[in-house]
Amino acid sequence: MTRVIDVELGERSYAVHIGPGARTRLPAAVAATGARRAVVVTARGPGSVPDPGVPTRVVTAVDGEVNKNLTGVEALCRTFAESGLTRDDVVISCGGGTTTDLVGLAAALYHRGTPVIHLPTSLLAQVDASIGGKTGVNLPTGKNLVGTYWQPRAVLCDTDYLDTLPARERLNGYGEIARCHFIGAGDLRELPLHEQIAASVARKAEIVAADERDTGLRHILNYGHTLGHALERATDFALRHGEAVAIGTVFAGRLAGALGRIGPDRAAEHSAVVEHYGLPTRLPAETNARHLVDLMRRDKKATRGLAFVLDGPFGAELVRDVDEATVLDTLAAMPRVGR
Ligand code: GLY
Repeated sequence: MTRVIDVELGERSYAVHIGPGARTRLPAAVAATGARRAVVVTARGPGSVPDPGVPTRVVTAVDGEVNKNLTGVEALCRTFAESGLTRDDVVISCGGGTTTDLVGLAAALYHRGTPVIHLPTSLLAQVDASIGGKTGVNLPTGKNLVGTYWQPRAVLCDTDYLDTLPARERLNGYGEIARCHFIGAGDLRELPLHEQIAASVARKAEIVAADERDTGLRHILNYGHTLGHALERATDFALRHGEAVAIGTVFAGRLAGALGRIGPDRAAEHSAVVEHYGLPTRLPAETNARHLVDLMRRDKKATRGLAFVLDGPFGAELVRDVDEATVLDTLAAMPRVGR
């Protein structure tokens, strides 16, 4: 059965459809935009996207950070122009989070904003990347440094796409589902996958509706991400995003415990939840605590000192200016691979 969750943003509200066969709603979603033509950008090959019901040009994309750059945005915008797309038409993305981020940004910029519909095909994109309107590409100096907010007209999370997902790619998405446990989604561990996706999307929809532009509440979606982003960089992206966020979530629990924000049971719950999803809980053997702290100081949220989203008496919140010695001690006490 398909679940429908609304992202309530006034006249920019949209529905997220989740379940097997959700992609079959594409012609209706396109018709609702009033588009007369479409460009489909797909990383899943021919046949992955149903006929949108209007004249369509299909172009292929390749999922992956390496293609998520301004050159890719320009190439897509050129394709839109060559196809005669106007801002009353529609762009459709089909792929993982890197594809929905890239295509979303191209749609946001083309003719100063062209409707976009996302068909996310990875678990990570279904539970997080395709929802909430963040689009972006990388610069050589860092990930997602150029982007904008551009809400899609609809998101179709077809869980049939997940059937062929490699195990490690599935794990990548579980990293974001695991962190939902600590940001108000409740305990999702015993739910079937499509309900875990729906609950994660529902929590994200509430957060985005309350803070679309990431000025406060939306920061909590970055639970586990301060250390997570540092670990991705320290391992040269050998750790996938969700794996790194999982270790970052365990660390966030320990740090919140060390700062007296939560008790030992709640801190231990972090490892238990992460382990339940089959995700890593230990720091890679070769990582150096000082180097990780230096990387964490460069986090986008760290405008003052070291900043972490931490659990506490009032739930998760962004905590700035966290004492460096406590961070170093907590890193030193983390379990490490091989120890
Ligand atoms: N992925 C975090 C956000 O959408 O704000």
